[in-house]
Amino acid sequence: MADADYDVLILGAGSGGYACALRAAQLGLKVGLVEKDKLGGTCLHIGCVPTKALLHAAEVADSARESEQFGVRASFDGIDMAGVNSYKDGVVARLFKGLSGLVKSRGITVIEGEGRLTGPREVTVDGTAYTAKNVVLASGSYARSLPGLDIDGERVITSDQALRLDRVPASVIVLGGGVIGCEFASVWKSFGAEVTILEALPRLVAVEDEASSKALERAFRKRKINFRTGTPFQSVKVTDSGVAVTVEGGDVIEAELLLVAVGRGPSTDGLGYDEQSITMDRGFVIADERCRTNVEGVYAVGDIVPGLQLAHRGFAQGIFVAEELAGLEPQPIDESGIPRVTYSHPEIASVGLNESAAAEKFGADNIESVTYDLGGNGKSQILKTQGFVKLVREKDGPVVGIHLVGDRVGELIGEAQLIYNWEGYAEDVAPLIHAHPTQNEALGEAHLALAGKPLHAHS
Ligand code: NAI
Repeated sequence: MADADYDVLILGAGSGGYACALRAAQLGLKVGLVEKDKLGGTCLHIGCVPTKALLHAAEVADSARESEQFGVRASFDGIDMAGVNSYKDGVVARLFKGLSGLVKSRGITVIEGEGRLTGPREVTVDGTAYTAKNVVLASGSYARSLPGLDIDGERVITSDQALRLDRVPASVIVLGGGVIGCEFASVWKSFGAEVTILEALPRLVAVEDEASSKALERAFRKRKINFRTGTPFQSVKVTDSGVAVTVEGGDVIEAELLLVAVGRGPSTDGLGYDEQSITMDRGFVIADERCRTNVEGVYAVGDIVPGLQLAHRGFAQGIFVAEELAGLEPQPIDESGIPRVTYSHPEIASVGLNESAAAEKFGADNIESVTYDLGGNGKSQILKTQGFVKLVREKDGPVVGIHLVGDRVGELIGEAQLIYNWEGYAEDVAPLIHAHPTQNEALGEAHLALAGKPLHAHS
């Protein structure tokens, strides 16, 4: 392949694809990055970044509303959606500009258009075939719907349209109480909408530890966010004033809008993967721990590969493949150590196993857990947030799961993931000094408790 156009051609410039491009170029490889839309993909334009901007605006609205609790005279006079959108779009635009500049400065060739895999080492974009020594599939994901559910973009929407809404709806039904559903429910409630979440499983954000789901449910109840768990969706009718949703059992719920947040599917249709005999499963691309597909020279990263659909997993996989192609022989990614955060009010953050998964893996008698209530943490009291830090460990072994609930606890997951990924023992973490007063201290306190010497908690 001495005469290939590129060392590596990357199909898709989302988190996985652009991270791979940036690192590969840094390592001296000749990189072609194919993108049909904008550099940055879902995360930057219609995912992580704009949703977190909305969540921050929601927090500001709540602060204004609750200012009296802190002795501050202020009033909440409503949401100016144009203003919120301009703030959100400004954040995205600045990051997009920065990313575009980086890509350019590293000498990466951006090929605009929809790429198709037309050979094991060939991608065709708008009729032009480009060759490479290696190809990385990074085509991302799309908001899934359900059979019989028509996303019209007006009354029945996905997060794509929800991010572009120019008004605060009076009422919304959120179908799916997973991460996206809970984050949007949280935003819209803070903005003043009447919100009802419908979730088929017995609890909200069911992938998390049961205690975290329960704490979120308690907080949502207090915030008057309606939710019905164990309630599968049956059908929806678009009416003059909005939507009428029928759930299993026959109840009908009406609202102005229906947000469909029932998961994200892999964007792999029509991209030539099948024709090149790439092994797939229900649309996902199967890759091994070195991100290799079954076809030599073809790698896959990000949301198209089964596993956690998170931007930071995509970044890590993209960097891994770049280093692999440059011959650095990197360590495979330990997927169990990927941190997860739901940025609702309150937030849920976790890394490692939840208690029931740990019990399954090690045996119920061979694990221990402690829960440290944020009520004992000074900074959490100052912020007036409730929640906890829960640790799960193998008896006499390292911590195997860390679960946090409370406002801003997403920022604590950095320390938690270091403890988890370094297989920290409570006895080793307990003596580490945490600054006072911080919410970080709650992590320290939980480890003190697990090591048998609780300070601001009952023994
Ligand atoms: P999800 O898989 O987290 O949640 C979808 C929910 O819909 C599930 O709880 C499921 O039980 C429910 N559901 C499915 N069919 C249903 C039905 N017929 N009736 C009622 N409920 C039904 O997917 P979500 O929230 O759409 O997010 C997609 C992906 O994006 C996730 O993998 C998530 O990790 C990622 N994401 C991550 C964020 C973060 O890290 N903060 C933010 C947003 C998305």
